[in-house]
Amino acid sequence: MNYRNILDKGLNILKKNSIFSADLDTQLLLSKSINKSREEILLNLDKELNQEEINKFLGFIIRRKKKEPISIILGKKFFWKYDFKVNNDVLTPRFETELLVEGVLNYYKDIKKINVLDIGVGSGCILISLLKENSKWRGTGVDLSKIALKMAKTNAKIQQVENRIKFINSDIDKFCGNKYDLIVSNPPYINKIGYNNLDLDVKDYEPKMALYGGLDGLKIIDKVIKKSKFVLKNSGMLAIEIGFGQHYKVSEILKKNDFYIFKTITDYQKIKRCFLAKKNN
Ligand SMILES: C[S@@+](CC[C@H](N)C(=O)[O-])C[C@H]1O[C@@H](n2cnc3c(N)ncnc32)[C@H](O)[C@@H]1O
Repeated sequence: MNYRNILDKGLNILKKNSIFSADLDTQLLLSKSINKSREEILLNLDKELNQEEINKFLGFIIRRKKKEPISIILGKKFFWKYDFKVNNDVLTPRFETELLVEGVLNYYKDIKKINVLDIGVGSGCILISLLKENSKWRGTGVDLSKIALKMAKTNAKIQQVENRIKFINSDIDKFCGNKYDLIVSNPPYINKIGYNNLDLDVKDYEPKMALYGGLDGLKIIDKVIKKSKFVLKNSGMLAIEIGFGQHYKVSEILKKNDFYIFKTITDYQKIKRCFLAKKNN
């Protein structure tokens, strides 16, 4: 069987199972199976595969057919400027979260040296991306999940920022750290109804702890803001990602905790996705 035949076979299986991105996914999975780039594959469609390669590819196709996310099968997801390792232990980075990274970097354009806290660091995508842009910044990543922290550490090593990050396994409630110049957080914010209605490719493959924010979705957001009030420097900034329709309630929580919002970041669907807030001094 050559590359052309196996691509057709994979594509047919995925299409029959209503996989939206069947064409691209088939090419990515073949690329992973034979360790060759997509370009190399498409330029050599008549090249033959051995049985081991065919089995590997079909194994991946069966996983994808059952709706396992392509990022988890590939074991990586591109975020900001880098590939981050991912698996079922962490939330796969979402492209909306890049808006938070961009908003923070625009704000800190001329500031050379700061101390950053990432609450719910997960794969490490936010904190690592920020530190890669600023060689003098240092960071702390907190997460309730030990296994998520393991992945964040791996990613920090791959991106060679591990010497500038401290990882702490703690519930944010119990965390007592120094004072930080910047706090970033993409907390779990999906409410009970939203969680029950999630697509199976999310619900079955990503950790509940990374997604579910309690009955109204605001439980962890509330904890993050309350903690930030104490561990953020007076001149510091809190950058927090929120879910669809939460902007009014989150702005109330911020106000109650003596924060004011100086920038709201809207995503590609015009959803208020991120607040940049400072303390009222
Ligand atoms: C939405 S994920 C964000 C992961 C990553 N920062 C990103 O943006 O892709 C939320 C993270 O918060 C962590 N988390 C949930 N509850 C927590 C808590 N009470 N204290 C600390 N971390 C928590 C989860 O384990 C998960 O890694």
